[in-house]
Amino acid sequence: MWSIFLWTGALVIIYLTHWVFIWKNPKCNGKLPPGSMGLPLLGETLQFFSPNTSSDIPPFIKKRMQRYGSVFRTSLVGRPVVISTDPDLNHFIFQQEGQLFQSWYPDTFTEIFGRQNVGSLHGFMYKYLKNLVLNLFGPENIKEKLLPEIEELAFRNLHLWSSWDSVELKEAIAKMIFDLTAKKLISYDSAKSGENLRENFVAFIQGLISFPLDIPGTAYHKCLQGRKKAMKLLKEMLNGRRATPPEKQNGDFFDHVLQELMKEGTILTEAIALDLMFVLLFASFETTSLALTLALKFLSDHPSVLKELTEEQEGILRRRENVDSGLTWKEYKSMTFTFQVINETVRLANIVPGIFRKVLREIQFKGYTIPAGWAVMVCPPAVHLNPAKYEDPLAFNPWRWQGMELNGATKHFMAFGGGMRFCVGTEFTKVIMAIFLHCLVTKYRWKVIKGGDIVRTPGLAFPNGFHVQLSEKHK
Ligand code: HEM
Ligand SMILES: *[C@@H]1O[C@H](CO)[C@@H](O)[C@H](O)[C@H]1NC(C)=O
Ligand SMILES: *[C@@H]1O[C@H](CO)[C@@H](O)[C@H](O)[C@H]1NC(C)=O
Repeated sequence: MWSIFLWTGALVIIYLTHWVFIWKNPKCNGKLPPGSMGLPLLGETLQFFSPNTSSDIPPFIKKRMQRYGSVFRTSLVGRPVVISTDPDLNHFIFQQEGQLFQSWYPDTFTEIFGRQNVGSLHGFMYKYLKNLVLNLFGPENIKEKLLPEIEELAFRNLHLWSSWDSVELKEAIAKMIFDLTAKKLISYDSAKSGENLRENFVAFIQGLISFPLDIPGTAYHKCLQGRKKAMKLLKEMLNGRRATPPEKQNGDFFDHVLQELMKEGTILTEAIALDLMFVLLFASFETTSLALTLALKFLSDHPSVLKELTEEQEGILRRRENVDSGLTWKEYKSMTFTFQVINETVRLANIVPGIFRKVLREIQFKGYTIPAGWAVMVCPPAVHLNPAKYEDPLAFNPWRWQGMELNGATKHFMAFGGGMRFCVGTEFTKVIMAIFLHCLVTKYRWKVIKGGDIVRTPGLAFPNGFHVQLSEKHK
């Protein structure tokens, strides 16, 4: 009797040892990049997500760069991953999109964003969706329609906030941008709607790049619950639209999508359309509001930058025939220093701490082999905070961008990604940031009350918000 137990026990132990050995030494036709696969199943997931208040390259990455070099292997959320901090490999990954690499995000992303979101669609469907999105958020529409609307929105909000004792900027800016994009996408008006749609997206970034444990209390669970509710609302809205006769429709993005859905032989499905709405609502406000809040934090801490920015923006008003005429595209394009401030802010913000791809075919790189089926993660913070490319990399110094555009900084700047999957919201983000800064520094001053500290998990967050008091400048 006992011998059976012993035998089974021994077999289990042999099996487990073997399994752990395979886990630690994955199969590969060549030499894998150095690194550790961590614990069985868990890998190094917990270390990767451990919070830190530093703005430097995340300690998880930094330690491994020192130990292993610029390319190393690990295991995150149950997947073997090669992390790249190497500019050449990053470039290669972006250039080979769709050939050797394919967009892939951890299951956290797929669960939260839907299986058919724009980030994971390929080929034809993808180009088609991208065009739909660019119609709304691309430079043409910004130039013709959005510029005056954003200016009006910024002034209206600043005016309102200046009547408060204290504004929590992260929250206030997020609401402002969400109201804009939700209006453009689905004609949603938070003041009139009984449901608070944005509530469902709160604390999303932390949940998104978090451990995928779906039990009450975790950030991931909150994220999934939020998605469920938001998708239900979106679906109800879409059905409501279906019942509305065409002449009563208002020509927002939803109507556009609905028209496509009703076309014969269309490749768009309702599920894809709803996922797309959800992704766009999220991608457009959370990222941009983080960047803008951080910009205001930097300006508060660097009076000399604020001074030069204010001079540039006041110069625009001085050169106008009529001070009260709205911002023009030409004026927007002339904001040289402002764009340097924006570049410097998104460089240091590192809002997207990792860009993920799946390896479709075995890759050889500098003597290492990356097997097909593995994931690769391009690590923008390691690029943006590289002292060899950015002198004193942690310093907020917008002047470093002077003349940078001439020597093609692109390999060393990837806040908005690169290659085919470059962020479609780049221009939209810049225009919102620039116009908001214009309205703010020409008409208002502010005093920091409290907060402004950051934490990264490794996604950026302001745990205590950033509270300021706004007041109108006296002429
Ligand atoms: C500070 C603001 C923003 C940052 C830092 C940012 C960053 C990024 C990055 C790094 C990617 C590439 C992801 C990848 O390669 O897998 C991306 C893609 C994307 N972004 Fe943004 N983004 C911002 C604002 C926006 C806005 C305002 C929108 C909405 C209009 C938007 C919509 C998208 C979409 C739809 C994609 C997917 C594009 C594709 O797969 O081809 N983003 N973004
Ligand atoms: C952040 O990382 C540094 C470097 O690894 C470490 O010394 C520090 O204790 C970490 N924790 C926090 C909360 O910042
Ligand atoms: C900001 O960075 C991008 C990407 O490197 C560059 O093309 C652009 O010229 C920069 N803008 C300024 C004002 O330096």
